[in-house]
Amino acid sequence: MQLNLDTQLLNAFLPDGILADEIIAKAAEMIRAGGLAAFPTETVYGLGANALDGNAVAKIFEAKQRPLNDPIIVHVADGAWEELADAHNAEMRQMARALARACWPGPLTLVLPRGGRIPANVTAGLDKVGLRMPAHPVALALIRASGVPIAAPSANRFGHTSPTTAAHVLDDLRGRIDLVLDGGPASIGVESTVLDLTGAAPQILRPGGLSRERLEEVLARPVSIRQRQTQNQSEAMPAPGMMERHYAPGAKLILCKDTPDLLARREAYAAQKLRVGLLITQAQSAACAGLTPQFVMGNALAEIARELYAGMRALDAAGAQVILITQVERAGLGEAIADRLRRAAA
Ligand code: TXA
Ligand code: MG
Repeated sequence: MQLNLDTQLLNAFLPDGILADEIIAKAAEMIRAGGLAAFPTETVYGLGANALDGNAVAKIFEAKQRPLNDPIIVHVADGAWEELADAHNAEMRQMARALARACWPGPLTLVLPRGGRIPANVTAGLDKVGLRMPAHPVALALIRASGVPIAAPSANRFGHTSPTTAAHVLDDLRGRIDLVLDGGPASIGVESTVLDLTGAAPQILRPGGLSRERLEEVLARPVSIRQRQTQNQSEAMPAPGMMERHYAPGAKLILCKDTPDLLARREAYAAQKLRVGLLITQAQSAACAGLTPQFVMGNALAEIARELYAGMRALDAAGAQVILITQVERAGLGEAIADRLRRAAA
């Protein structure tokens, strides 16, 4: 592709924490002109283009080196999302409205029948579209200032871990996109939950920042999680989890049962002369004292979610060939964390 060597990094906030309207306007102008602007959301940074412009969306695939059969989420800022979908069925429409009211803005993507205004490449040819209203002031301001819905995958090279800071975006995409809006580190740190409402029953295609428990509470019905299937490259993929190795650091990631297992494996790899990085929690840090490189996350699931990708990137940068991490419990946010760990380790 043609390299745009001067990717601009722009602070979306003024020093006093107020939104920098002129900067947002500049990024919105770039979006309207068919360019690529990365922006912060509460989950991870997104790489945005005008969702109604197929040529602009094509540049996203090119910049990320993303396969054309992986559909992109369309980000919205208000009730106009209903026009982007074609929720003809009354029950589906009711569920979508209830979830939008209770969970948006927030880390939830709703998959609905595609409306006619969405170009086919956004949805990888699928007749369904993923819609999300992000809970981040910069993202919402950018969408509003652009006056169009914004198609945005995570702003990383395909297959890599999602970026949770503007610096991560530049590490992956510098010279390949027009600009990056810096809005500080992402507060949730794992991607949105992708919920398909087009089937006989609502189904999670990708666990994420909004828990299954919360969805069940809002819908007052059980919600299943789609089990991974063997990948078929010739079809559009319903969720990136259908691909085994994804959300991955450069180093080999190994999942451990508990701290003793982690320490035993560390010794075994070190004996093979491999550089072992430890991605651990505060609770594990005493047992791992002096073992470097290491990256220490908080103990709570929310802290692990927030710091996980930054930790993988930091250990990669520290030259780790193997990264060891302990498995988390599969409840609440743990479902998304365990899913990402499994895929990063694949
Ligand atoms: O939190 C997030 O979801 C972030 C921020 C930027 O919003 N975005 C993100 O996008 O993670 P991406 O492209 O890295 O992952 C979104 C996944 C896609 O890979 C795709 O499989 C699924 O959501 N998806 C999007 N549109 C879909 C559709 N029409 N049908 C089924 N799955 C869809
Ligand atoms: Mg992604």
